[in-house]
Amino acid sequence: MPSVMQGNHAPIWTESDAYALPVVGELPRNLCGTLYRNGPNPQFIPISPHHHWFGGDGMIHAFTIGDGRVRYRNRWVRTPKWLRENAAGRPLIDVFGPPDAERRADPEDKLSCVANTNILAHAGRLLALEEGHPPVELDAGTLATIGLYRFGGDFAGPFTAHPKIDPRTGEMLFFGYFAAGAFTPDIAFGTVDAAGRLGPIQRFAAPYASMVHDFCVTEGHVLFPVLPLTGSLERAMRGGPPFAWEPELGAHVGILPRGAPAGAIRWFRGSSRYVFHVMNAWEEGARIHADVAQYEQAPLFPWPDGRPPDPARAEARLCRWTFDLGGGTDSFTSEYIDDLAGEFPRLDERRAGLPYRHGYYACHHGAGSGLNAIAHIDHATGRRTLHALPEGDATSEPVFVPRAPDAAEGDGFLLAVVWRNGERRSDLLVLDAAAVDRAPLATVQLSHRVPFGFHGNFVAAA
Ligand SMILES: [Fe+2]
Repeated sequence: MPSVMQGNHAPIWTESDAYALPVVGELPRNLCGTLYRNGPNPQFIPISPHHHWFGGDGMIHAFTIGDGRVRYRNRWVRTPKWLRENAAGRPLIDVFGPPDAERRADPEDKLSCVANTNILAHAGRLLALEEGHPPVELDAGTLATIGLYRFGGDFAGPFTAHPKIDPRTGEMLFFGYFAAGAFTPDIAFGTVDAAGRLGPIQRFAAPYASMVHDFCVTEGHVLFPVLPLTGSLERAMRGGPPFAWEPELGAHVGILPRGAPAGAIRWFRGSSRYVFHVMNAWEEGARIHADVAQYEQAPLFPWPDGRPPDPARAEARLCRWTFDLGGGTDSFTSEYIDDLAGEFPRLDERRAGLPYRHGYYACHHGAGSGLNAIAHIDHATGRRTLHALPEGDATSEPVFVPRAPDAAEGDGFLLAVVWRNGERRSDLLVLDAAAVDRAPLATVQLSHRVPFGFHGNFVAAA
């Protein structure tokens, strides 16, 4: 059985509802709303040798907090793939394997949509996201799948799992890679205004075709990191890995003023590195800074000849990139600002794209393995505070929720679903975001596991 099917990577087979989960401690009275989380949870045990963790069917876990209790609901996203396999009662499609004739005949390759990476609300719609297809809209209460969301038109994707919402305007900015077809170097980008209206979509050719998982948005610019985890149809057709690490291609970051035509993009270049996730980016005069979780070598994907990555280099640490738009150079600087391996960086989203002070992420510290602590970094003081979990336990991405809409930056709560290794189940932790090293304010206990997943967001009650 593939390793992605073992431990807390293994899927659960059930959809369930709980109406009042046990709570240890006290839920903050002003924490009202729903934490939605998404992650891969294959409907059936995969049979393909090409199966990858990233290819599992998306399952949503929703914790609704209010009236002094917590309800829970989990549902698979009913993608075309999920429906087809559910009707057959067995796995049929491997999204990382060679497509069959039916998939090749569909320009959108909808049967490879898994909607398993992120979930967020924008303009009154709840959208499950991956990066190869349009969003999938869900009912925010029942989690019933409504279907591929095309913004009221014929939008066909791709659409990143990491769009950015401008906290000043409510506008959502997005991009999609492989925009001219599978493994093409083309990147498309566009905006959706606060009312949900899709604007014009532009497209440019990146230096090479790669997996572009996240990007950066500041008040005035958009940054597209093109890093050498390359995608190659030709390599895949030869039986090699569709995605592989090719460091000789170097790092390229395209910077475009917001609202400018794609032809105005300016490329900065640097040594090879990989980034899945951006904590935040902002402007300081003519300079742009971006805090990213940077790997020396991309994890989870092989070299072109199939060799696995070097585990010591395939760990991310928080790193600050700086681009000088007035400096007459196409190089940029990068400086590690933390020494712990970590992932899933987040911030108080009210500071997205703006100068900010507080960041949060899942990290590894001390002995043991895995993401065994939740970190808060105060960029103003450089102080890092940890919430360490008991040995064997592991955390998911911490999600910040402000105490009130007008609370100061960082004044609020961190929500994180954690894996209890000894009890083979999960808890939802509610931490004071300004004192993460203290005991949780509340621990919400599930009787089952939430498998390791990717991303989530909190939607405050209306
Ligand atoms: Fe991600």
